[in-house]
Amino acid sequence: MIAVMNQKGGVGKTTTTLNMAHALALSGRDVTVLDMDPQAHLTTSFGAENSAGADAVLLEGATIGEVEQRVREGIRLVSAGPRLGEAETMKAGGAQRGWLLDKALDAAGPREVVLVDCPPSAGLLAMNALLATREVLIPVAGDYLSLHGLSRLVGILQHIEQTLGRSSRKWVVLTRFHERRRLAREVKEKLLQHFPGQVLATPVRETVALAESPGFGKTIFEYQARSNGAADYRLLAGDLMAGRVM
Ligand SMILES: Nc1ncnc2c1ncn2[C@@H]1O[C@H](COP(=O)(O)OP(=O)(O)O)[C@@H](O)[C@H]1O
Ligand SMILES: [Mg+2]
Repeated sequence: MIAVMNQKGGVGKTTTTLNMAHALALSGRDVTVLDMDPQAHLTTSFGAENSAGADAVLLEGATIGEVEQRVREGIRLVSAGPRLGEAETMKAGGAQRGWLLDKALDAAGPREVVLVDCPPSAGLLAMNALLATREVLIPVAGDYLSLHGLSRLVGILQHIEQTLGRSSRKWVVLTRFHERRRLAREVKEKLLQHFPGQVLATPVRETVALAESPGFGKTIFEYQARSNGAADYRLLAGDLMAGRVM
């Protein structure tokens, strides 16, 4: 179970969840994806309807089984749902509020691969994702701006881990990568210094088709299977499963 997390927006969380999920499903894995962003971009990127989903699980105690939709062969999606924004600010529930997703996933029984797409914030929704998973995948876009905030994310994760007395395996993925730009290479060097042994081997190149495909409700493998984006996400999915790092 993996939370795709970074409190910064626009770094490639949703693109990575979408295409990683499909790459894994195409290689025969059974994948469950959860859209924990009230903007529901993951849901619409799959071309699915944003009907009751994670919102019903968190606010009404619905089960995963009741709300999940089969969106592709081998992929079950829990949509964000129209009320997910309310869950970010819910007051009721006390300390248990952070564990609602964990409980729901436990009750859903064993799943081979679970990917949770987080919102660009570090509130209750991201907390639920973090507490429900044992691994965190952190997309970082290949520009300096995206390195800002990374130390904050690491701080947030450390704080939570100390409180819980357990740690999550962390993976970093370089997204929107321009091989020939010095800036991108510098970001890569910085990441390797700060996250040794944790940066997945394949950077995802900046690819126009990756930005276009969600508008058609398609993954990159349906939209342009021969693009760089498809090749990169296919390799990246293998990296994650095998723990292959730079
Ligand atoms: N490798 C890439 N090449 C081109 N565009 C990308 C790439 N990765 C993401 N994008 C685009 O960048 C924007 C932000 O990506 P997104 O996955 O939505 O980020 P997040 O979920 O972190 O906010 C989207 O318009 C997306 O289509
Ligand atoms: Mg997103």
